Amino acid sequence: GHDGKDKEKRAPVVSVMGHVDHGKTSLLDYIRRTKVASGESGGITQHIGAYHVETGHGMVSFLDTPGHAAFTAMRARGAQCTDVVILVVAADDGVMPQTKEAVDHARSAGVPIVVAINKMDKEEADPDRIKTELAGMDVIPEDWGGEVQFVPVSAHTGAGIDDLLEAVLLQAEILELEASPDAPAKGVVVESSLERGRGSVATVLVQNGTLRQGDTIVAGACFGKVRAMTNEAGKQVKDAGPSIPVEILGLNGTPNAGDEFFAVADEKKAKELAEFRQSR
Ligand code: GTP
Ligand code: NA
Ligand code: MG
Repeated sequence: GHDGKDKEKRAPVVSVMGHVDHGKTSLLDYIRRTKVASGESGGITQHIGAYHVETGHGMVSFLDTPGHAAFTAMRARGAQCTDVVILVVAADDGVMPQTKEAVDHARSAGVPIVVAINKMDKEEADPDRIKTELAGMDVIPEDWGGEVQFVPVSAHTGAGIDDLLEAVLLQAEILELEASPDAPAKGVVVESSLERGRGSVATVLVQNGTLRQGDTIVAGACFGKVRAMTNEAGKQVKDAGPSIPVEILGLNGTPNAGDEFFAVADEKKAKELAEFRQSR
């Protein structure tokens, strides 16, 4: 475009939510051909993982959220920067407290849900029970006259996962998601920590514009010049466009998960803004 601010289609940001151990990370492992779940301490996800993946039906940015009861705030933040929620329910276990919580988060964020009925490879799997239980919460399956797609899957065998991705991408198409890659970067902090030898390490999700190495940003009450950026595979990148999660170095502290970040013209301005936010 002539003003350099034209909107373009962007990848959907999809949060994978549900009760502890219902198979969220395993599902993403299957989709990404990785083995994250088996390496987790106690088999429990304790942070939000962000991954940009070519699914065969289009690019998707996934946020893996923890199901453990302790992580309510993390799930709420996950839902807030999301376009579609995949609600994972184990077919042998049914609707549990954090399943309900995930439905509430999706609703209050106004985000459409696609239900993945997982662990269909198990003998005890009872998909009709899942449908009945969720219908009781007004999450009504399409084949029962409602609006929500329920897709039976197995993260172990891979059965149904292609159908699940198709359903998610279809839902995203309806939303007509767009962003302006040429705008100054803005987005949200997914998580951050201090690492020995690297300093502040923050995973951010770009929502609009393009974040570039060397950009000065304000993130919550922190600021800094982006010294280096890596994608989820640990590969150095120079820029990240809309819907892309990246790990950045260079902030002067650790912003909170869920904080907004945005690029500013100069470091003096960034410092002022960050200090103003600190003082509140
Ligand atoms: P949290 O992040 O801790 O809430 O758990 P999670 O929802 O990410 O579940 P995770 O992927 O850690 O899987 C929990 C357990 O269920 C693991 O032992 C998995 O191997 C198993 N599991 C996951 N998906 C399936 C499946 O489709 N079939 C079977 N049989 N087991 C599965
Ligand atoms: Na787990
Ligand atoms: Mg997990």
